[in-house]
Amino acid sequence: MSRKVIIAGNWKMNKTAAEGKALVEELKKLVADVPVAKADIVVCPPFTTIAAVAEAIKGSNIRLGAQNIHWAANGAFTGEIAADMLKELGVEYVIIGHSERRQYFGETDATVNQRVKAALAAGFTPIVCVGEMLEEREGGRTEKVLFTQLEGGLAGLTKEDMGKVVVAYEPVWAIGTGKTATPELAEETHNYIRQTLNDMFGKEIGEGVRIQYGGSMKADNAKELVAQRNIDGGLIGGAALKADSFSALVHNAIAE
Ligand code: PGA
Repeated sequence: MSRKVIIAGNWKMNKTAAEGKALVEELKKLVADVPVAKADIVVCPPFTTIAAVAEAIKGSNIRLGAQNIHWAANGAFTGEIAADMLKELGVEYVIIGHSERRQYFGETDATVNQRVKAALAAGFTPIVCVGEMLEEREGGRTEKVLFTQLEGGLAGLTKEDMGKVVVAYEPVWAIGTGKTATPELAEETHNYIRQTLNDMFGKEIGEGVRIQYGGSMKADNAKELVAQRNIDGGLIGGAALKADSFSALVHNAIAE
């Protein structure tokens, strides 16, 4: 089954509205040659930067994502963001359960699950992040950790729901460290995730789910990673903060 490549830039807590606008003004020229049929290019700015970016990418092949979403429609949830607020700005994708949310802000598989359901109900494409810590990898617990995250984070989803979800595999030890998983190790883990999704939702759904790799993906390793059978793109942190490095990564990822 051929799955369309998806490269998403996770800007994390970087870029003011003015800085974000400048970045995408440059980026949209650099990626203008990338056919929409070949790859989904997504940028996920901080909430306060989304509106400026939305305006700047109008008419381009760049799509808009957010870094979180709350499960309630509105209410007393200081510091959180609701679906309607993102929808109004033209957001189409939402990153959910990033390891930084899990590590620093108490996100659990149960809250991930609530956010995923809210995102689906509002018509967004959730990018659901999973990944093991270094000591879990070294202790031989990677598969168990991923299984628990997938089972908990995707609990109660229908096959139809799952057909709309993107999964991002991000080994925590590779995020922002410069230590990328080798293509072989990443592929082995992506294959495990794929088999788990096949078991949970049936092969016809599991084989169609796009699984991104994340963790120090850059222009010079993107091609080799995305060439793997079960790696369908990337969730990019550091290399997404500059138009030239992000554009080079996108081009290399889709190069024949
Ligand atoms: P990185 O971050 O590319 O800087 O390693 C990836 C991520 O956390 O999504």
